[in-house]
Amino acid sequence: MCGIVGYTGTLQAAPILLDGLRRLEYRGYDSAGVAVHDGERIERVKAGGTVAGLAEKTANGAALHGVCGIAHTRWATHGAPTDTNAHPHLSEHGLFAVVHNGIIENYALLRAELQGEGYVFRSETDTEVVAHLLEKYYDGDFKRTVMRTAARLEGSYVLGVLCSEAPGRLFCVKEAGPLLLGLGVGENYFASDVTALVSHTKNVIYMDDGELAELTPEKITVFDRTGREITKTVSHVVWDIEAAEKGGYEHFMLKEIMEQPRAVKSTVDPRIRDGEIVFEDFDPSSEELAGINRLVITACGSAYHAGVVAKYVIEALCRVSVEVQLASELRYSDPIIDGHTLLIVVSQSGETADTIAAMRECMARGARSLAIVNVVGSTIARLADHVIYTHAGPEIAVATTKGYTTQLAALYLFAVWYAKRLGRIDSARYNELVEGIRALPGMVQRAIDLNVHVRYLAERWHGHKSLFFIGRNIDYAAAMEGSLKLKEISYIHSEAYAAGELKHGTIALIDEQRLVVALCCQEQLFEKMVSNIQEVKARGAKVLGVSLEGDRRIFAEADDVLFVPRGERLFAALPELIPLQLFAYYIARENGCAIDKPRNLAKSVTVE
Ligand code: G6P
Repeated sequence: MCGIVGYTGTLQAAPILLDGLRRLEYRGYDSAGVAVHDGERIERVKAGGTVAGLAEKTANGAALHGVCGIAHTRWATHGAPTDTNAHPHLSEHGLFAVVHNGIIENYALLRAELQGEGYVFRSETDTEVVAHLLEKYYDGDFKRTVMRTAARLEGSYVLGVLCSEAPGRLFCVKEAGPLLLGLGVGENYFASDVTALVSHTKNVIYMDDGELAELTPEKITVFDRTGREITKTVSHVVWDIEAAEKGGYEHFMLKEIMEQPRAVKSTVDPRIRDGEIVFEDFDPSSEELAGINRLVITACGSAYHAGVVAKYVIEALCRVSVEVQLASELRYSDPIIDGHTLLIVVSQSGETADTIAAMRECMARGARSLAIVNVVGSTIARLADHVIYTHAGPEIAVATTKGYTTQLAALYLFAVWYAKRLGRIDSARYNELVEGIRALPGMVQRAIDLNVHVRYLAERWHGHKSLFFIGRNIDYAAAMEGSLKLKEISYIHSEAYAAGELKHGTIALIDEQRLVVALCCQEQLFEKMVSNIQEVKARGAKVLGVSLEGDRRIFAEADDVLFVPRGERLFAALPELIPLQLFAYYIARENGCAIDKPRNLAKSVTVE
């Protein structure tokens, strides 16, 4: 979950690499570094802290001369985030510089072997073994050296390598982590993510595991594990650089919250034609569907929460039982999966290591897979039998907003489509549900407009040290995401609880210091929620109600209220999250937190 970028061409490399790092910084931001070939040797600068610190140290790159280089922004796994542990790492005599994303699982053995041969280690990282192995195996042939080195590594490694004896040439290697190549004119690039490339080129090649590539200014050559040259497809990226910039907003997170009406529309609109749900990229045969008797959803973090919402919706509409499992648990659970299981894999990035591993485990047991993914060409998208892209556009803030709501929209489309294919809903209900989905972008905008007062509520409530989010049914699933949003960006303790379960122990924590956010958008359970609100109020808690627009009953119960526009009950979680995202955002802002890059987190978790 680090970010790497490489450039070879005719322009000064360091400023281009720093710009790339700024765009990759959401992948890790505890230290950064850059290495450039100055025509004779490799120059390297590293800095603990953010890319801004590295930019300052190098006069925005001007202090480093050379037209070919590699750079890295780190999320520490082995060794603290210090200058010394930052990448790039150099080999003993400075012959090679290497950047790495992933974890080398056999690094301890390799380190001992190399130390036994006299190699001196300067950092605590797993990556340094790669630098020394490169020098150990170097026989004048750059490609062969990289291949021999990669063959010794176990685990996940995406590498970028610079050799002082090969000016203008770069190698990169992919094994279990994201990597793509950017094709320019007289210049070429590699990067962990397309956001680092789009200001330079829209022509990209997605690398697959086990491949390596050689880059010179004129040419990119890709090889398989055995060193045989292979032909890769060039893809064209459809969005441009504005999509990955703040566009006047104070934070990416706020920009991405505000983008949601458009993002949800991009998920929904292309899939509804003449009142029918049609997936261009998901069209299983009737035989394939007939063979499915079980649905399992797997994901991590917010994507998992989207899966929990989907369970309620799919079960209500399709009357098929749905299991939702955290990918990190599913992968080690010896899961009961066979060829009759449809595995739905939800992921914004398409690169989350645990999700990929769970998916591989289930597919090896025969499951058919449907991926709901945002990033085109990502590992999960390519592994899956079927894909529904969410088309949310690039999401830069670490805390997901539009990534999550577009996952919900895609899952709603699937649920309604599947219910119809199973014959579980009649055409009147189908039409009503399709209209309910079509209305979602407008409802998201309405949810933004209805809650302009949320920033003032944040002023009032930002000092609370502990919150509970409570709800029932779909409101409970929405509470999980609302609670996560708050804790990850504001560092305030918060927990989501099924409202009816509170009294079985956790209510002991309720006192005058507690703020309880009570989600009351499932009309059929409103009275039950009122009872739960009264239980916490009787113990001194303050209550922030989240209620359907126009429902005046909540005013008698809550200290403050957030509003959710009315629409199809089953789809309420999507508009409901908008005020909760805004609430988390403004609380974190009041508390002066690093909203786009919260401490200890990274957007794309490509390690186990
Ligand atoms: C990280 C992010 C979360 C995200 C989770 C799963 O923890 O900080 O926001 O929900 O990974 O990511 P994915 O890309 O698979 O949706």
